[in-house]
Amino acid sequence: MVIFGASGDLTKRKLMPALYSLYREKRLGGEFYILGIGRTNYSDEGFRSYILREMKEFLNPADLEEETMAAFADRLRYLPMDPSKDEGYPELRKRIVELSGAERPDNLLFYLATPPVLYGVVPLHLKKVGLNTPHARIIVEKPFGYDLKSAQELNQIYASVFDESQVYRIDHFLGKETAQNVLALRFANGVFEPLWNRNYIDYVEVTAVENLGIEERGGYYDASGALRDMVQNHLIQLVALTAMEPPAVFNADNFRNEVLKVYESLTPLTEEDFQEHIVRGQYTASEHRKGYREEKGVAPESRTETYIAMKLGISNWRWAGVPFYIRTGKQMPTKVTEIVVHFKPTPHQMFHAAGGEAPKANALVIRIQPNEGFVLKTDMKTPGAGFDVQQVSMDFTYGQLGGVPAGDAYARLIDDCIQGDPTLFTRGDAVEASWRFFTPVLDYWKQNPDVSLYGYPAGTWGPKESEAMTREHGAEWTNPCKNLTNTDQYCEL
Ligand code: BG6
Repeated sequence: MVIFGASGDLTKRKLMPALYSLYREKRLGGEFYILGIGRTNYSDEGFRSYILREMKEFLNPADLEEETMAAFADRLRYLPMDPSKDEGYPELRKRIVELSGAERPDNLLFYLATPPVLYGVVPLHLKKVGLNTPHARIIVEKPFGYDLKSAQELNQIYASVFDESQVYRIDHFLGKETAQNVLALRFANGVFEPLWNRNYIDYVEVTAVENLGIEERGGYYDASGALRDMVQNHLIQLVALTAMEPPAVFNADNFRNEVLKVYESLTPLTEEDFQEHIVRGQYTASEHRKGYREEKGVAPESRTETYIAMKLGISNWRWAGVPFYIRTGKQMPTKVTEIVVHFKPTPHQMFHAAGGEAPKANALVIRIQPNEGFVLKTDMKTPGAGFDVQQVSMDFTYGQLGGVPAGDAYARLIDDCIQGDPTLFTRGDAVEASWRFFTPVLDYWKQNPDVSLYGYPAGTWGPKESEAMTREHGAEWTNPCKNLTNTDQYCEL
């Protein structure tokens, strides 16, 4: 396995811990090496001690086994080179030949954890030195392209170097156990699916917010913003899992066809949507937190959005007229990713909640993280005189099934790639379909640089303007954990 960008953030935070957990579970096979590529000038030994040091920070303390870590580190090698230039590639080929002991090595996995500008360059260099062998696979991080045109160009480059079956576009949200469980919840149970349509569902919310800022990634983030970083990929994947039709047989092609159909059914956004149904925000300084514009690598006048809320529609028989409200933000009060399906109220109301209010409609909260699980909100009679009802929660948490497996999304996805299973990776046509939908938003922002950008103090639920958007439909954002007193707390399910 060759990791481009081996001295970067993703490698130490996610890839190495994931590979180590696969190693511990004996899922990496007998003879394998991980060759790190980066511009930092490490020796093999220097790279090993850097990774061992970092893993101590990013691994769960219970997983720190000295001996296993040393044995894992023994498999690490490093080649300092600039992946954007072709000079280093003959040496790369030589190292791979040495390590594999084969003149024509073919059991290869390349991982592009580099800045996105290199996604189109590295494959061409690999081709020049003949490393695009028939069984090689390549994992490419998101964002795959920064708009429709660039995604199409990238797809063309990959098609000129590899077969589509060799290209694994990673979206780590799909590697999350609980995201996959949306499919089990919907398609392994008979009770939900008959209700899962416009006749019974009023609106759907998809939220993925974080209580952190942009950390050390100012350079990347300021050129991307929340739409490219989270919405075009992670959020829309969650929309697809919620909205897709059940595949007749669960396999890679069928599943990915259904995802694509959802993207192709998204109702194209209009000028009115750009103005009324998309709210952009940027966090400003608050008591203990920096404002976005004070972050390292961010332009002092930056108008990049760190929060976005949008209303989407899906034009098909199942979903016509049902709004999907999606939002993501940095520096929110907590970290939570969840889908909330709001059912329509009963057609006729015989009972009331306390104070004569209408009973609350049923809702199903699917919590992707943390406190993974789901809650079905139902109305029950309040004990005692009269006939008031109140809402109660029936819940399931993953703890009841022994918890979410320790190896996170990356371990699952790298393992799938090694096994040659592309189900949970994004196909080229789906990436393009998603960009086809979102690119007009980016174009509109470009043509209207003064489009509203609302400030929100770090640690709050984002601009108030996003509430007006849902109010139009009589809907309300579910802000879980309203009572959190400090932003490091996670909210209960
Ligand atoms: C990444 C984004 O893809 O996902 C980050 O680039 C974001 O900005 C992260 O923080 C969130 O992932 P998770 O798994 O921590 O919810």
